[in-house]
Amino acid sequence: MILGIESSCDETSASVVQEGRIVRSLVVAGQGEIHARYHGVVPEAASRAHVEQIAPVVRQALEEAGIDPSAPTAGGLGGVAATNRPGLSGSLAVGLSFAKSYAWAAGLPFVAVDHMAAHAYAAQLGTEVGASEAETAPPPDYPYIVILVSGGHTILAVSKDYDTLEVLGTTIDDACGEAYDKVSAFLGTGYPGGPVIDRLAARGDPRACVLPRPRLNRNDNRYDFSYSGLKTAVVHQLDRFWTEGYPRTRENIAAAFQKAAIDMVMDRVRNAVDDTGIRRVAAGGGVAANSSLRSRLRALEGVIVHLPPPLLCVDNGAMVAGIGYRYLREGRGSDWDTGVTARIESFRRRGRAHPRDTGA
Ligand code: KG4
Ligand code: ZN
Repeated sequence: MILGIESSCDETSASVVQEGRIVRSLVVAGQGEIHARYHGVVPEAASRAHVEQIAPVVRQALEEAGIDPSAPTAGGLGGVAATNRPGLSGSLAVGLSFAKSYAWAAGLPFVAVDHMAAHAYAAQLGTEVGASEAETAPPPDYPYIVILVSGGHTILAVSKDYDTLEVLGTTIDDACGEAYDKVSAFLGTGYPGGPVIDRLAARGDPRACVLPRPRLNRNDNRYDFSYSGLKTAVVHQLDRFWTEGYPRTRENIAAAFQKAAIDMVMDRVRNAVDDTGIRRVAAGGGVAANSSLRSRLRALEGVIVHLPPPLLCVDNGAMVAGIGYRYLREGRGSDWDTGVTARIESFRRRGRAHPRDTGA
């Protein structure tokens, strides 16, 4: 069993996962109210909240897995994993330092993992929290196409193995979740915006407003995303795109925005499936909890779709423990002087890899 600690943004989370698959416990302490009035995450406030929450969150995760926090090895704990990249430096430092200290004190191996690789790994867990091995869905075989949609990143990649993400495309401006959060701020419906817009959209009509789609279909842009034009259209140019006769309700605006936002994801996923011939698709990151994205992915013909349950799509310690198990099983632990990295270049810029180069 591995303890996984996640603190890259505004969620303090810890989880115990057995054999990289079975989620024995998962505790997530959010900070929604702290950041709500700023319509986004305030890094300094996030770090401070992590400092306060980390010890009780880890304690609870261990206890719920039947492990005594003061004698973890006797309880079956074999190692500690923590996210150290990418994310907010101060937030990452809290979880990473706690994980190293705890592992050191307990005489356990430690590994630092990549947050986005962990989101891609979540599909391998394929289980509800507390489910037994028998109840878990079989994990997807590698390679699979993975769409990673969160508040900070939008990445289309081929997951070739637990530690190898070959980036096909990324956003050229805003992240998908960031667009949800900005539209929610505009509608005055709070932070984080994704879940609220998702609920509002279900009661609206997307035909009320046909928002512009970016023209990114040429050549090496086939896998890229752009959300800033869509956000601008919603916030500043609704008149230009509104369909006469429809009431201008929050529900209708949310539905039109969500249709355009998810159309873009589906379009990219279809390109990747067609070009690579890989017929397994997984999703991860907060927006993978979105009801429209989930049902549209599931409806893809001729494709096996692996969606983690919503709790394992948003930031969580279980994906960290799961991928951490894979590293530690191969003796690939990290050094005690491992630090944090705020940005990963290949996740920010659009990818240059062509599917021909993925070996698929
Ligand atoms: O992966 P995540 O928990 O944190 C980051 O790594 O950023 O993703 C958070 C993002 C936020 O932008 C949030 O608004 C969005 O995921 N989100 C959703 C939904 N639930 C969370 N977006 C759309 N629909 C949802 N149901
Ligand atoms: Zn995330």
